Amino acid sequence: MASTHGAAEVLVASNRGPVSYVVGDDGSVETKRGGGGLVSALSVVEDKLWVCAALDDGDRAAVRRGVSEPGVRMLDIDAGVHADAYNGIANSVLWFVHHMLYQTPLEPSFGPEFRRQWASYEAYNRAFAEALAEEAAPGATVVVQDYHLALVPGMLRELRDDLRIGHFSHTPWAPVDYFRMLPDDIAEQLLRGMLGADRLAFLTRRWADAFTECCTRIIGGTSGTRIGVHGLGADADFLRERAHRADVEDRLAALREQIGPGRKAVVRVDRTELSKNIVRGLRAYELFLETRPEWREKVVHVAFAYPSRQDLAVYRDYTAEVSRVADAVNARFGTEGWTPVVLHVKDDFARSLAAYRLADVALVNPIRDGMNLVAKEVPVVSDDGCVLVLSREAGAYEELGEDALVVNPYDVSATASALADALAMPADERAERTKRLSAAATALPPGAWFLDQLHALRD
Ligand code: G6P
Repeated sequence: MASTHGAAEVLVASNRGPVSYVVGDDGSVETKRGGGGLVSALSVVEDKLWVCAALDDGDRAAVRRGVSEPGVRMLDIDAGVHADAYNGIANSVLWFVHHMLYQTPLEPSFGPEFRRQWASYEAYNRAFAEALAEEAAPGATVVVQDYHLALVPGMLRELRDDLRIGHFSHTPWAPVDYFRMLPDDIAEQLLRGMLGADRLAFLTRRWADAFTECCTRIIGGTSGTRIGVHGLGADADFLRERAHRADVEDRLAALREQIGPGRKAVVRVDRTELSKNIVRGLRAYELFLETRPEWREKVVHVAFAYPSRQDLAVYRDYTAEVSRVADAVNARFGTEGWTPVVLHVKDDFARSLAAYRLADVALVNPIRDGMNLVAKEVPVVSDDGCVLVLSREAGAYEELGEDALVVNPYDVSATASALADALAMPADERAERTKRLSAAATALPPGAWFLDQLHALRD
């Protein structure tokens, strides 16, 4: 037991926090606020402490100067340790395992380099556990987020037996035979680390069951840890208000002009992320144009693919491939007055909302995805109804599957057919489906999602 304790009653821990800092040449510090789903979900609890990591030199410089935001403690973890833990283990190993992204001949070899990075992952998790142990009031509630921090519950339990500890996974969980690709001792350590929590939670029953199965087969059970499911929904009030502000209207007008009058729009919005399956989506659209020539010049694929994790070569290569394939489709089918694929890579939330509003079809075809909030946000803000083409491997399928056109994400031919069916759907059916999708998508808004977890944890 730690001899000292802090004053925070509710603590949240995640790699990426709600703020980041930019330090100017003149030494001035600019604070940038993140607008992600977690930020809005957690805003329902005012009095909380958010423990996060410094992610770059700006953050580190700010922390070293003593800059801090109320309610946020940013940890200045050694840059090399953080890079090993975040890029090496979290994003290149754990993300790949849970999204089943390793493919022959690129399966991993877990040798000395992996062991070195794993030691950093442990150190990084320990830094979080120690900070949480220091800040938490007696009997406080701590909610740890995601695969970056899988060891924190167990480490924190050893330091502070009095806390209520929860852990939430925003990713899928790998099936046991795939999870066992990890070295045996590491697989065990991860499971036992998470089971240090009082309660673990997942986005869908499917991921929760996969975790339970891993525990049963690898370590003989979940040793009394409770396991729950909270399907994060879209924030309807926020989205509807935000989607009608002037900046979105401007972008809507610009997009309409780019698409051209009378044409339909197939929209996708993603991080340029291997699991999002953007290239197969482009190939499906290409096949659709090839096999349904009557649609040429009448439809535009508006693809937003925002750069992500560019420290990793495999993500840089994938980003380049997305551009290459989009260019190839345009070179093959484009005409004087028609660009079949409009690809935007600069992250712009207002423009994403504009695309949601005008989409006739939304293509959400990940090969695996914890939830996928785009699938939930589009029906909520759509102006005239939108047909959702949805991968059965997205967590959102559990709630939206009935009113979407569901595809196997590897099946490019079936995806091409689904695009054709979606574009041909009668307006009244499309409107009915959109209404039901929107209701299902907003069943558990972010604030309620977080409060439900807190209540369940304290029960
Ligand atoms: C997605 C995933 C989360 C993950 C996050 C990290 O949103 O659904 O599970 O925590 O990416 O993204 P980052 O850009 O911080 O690596």
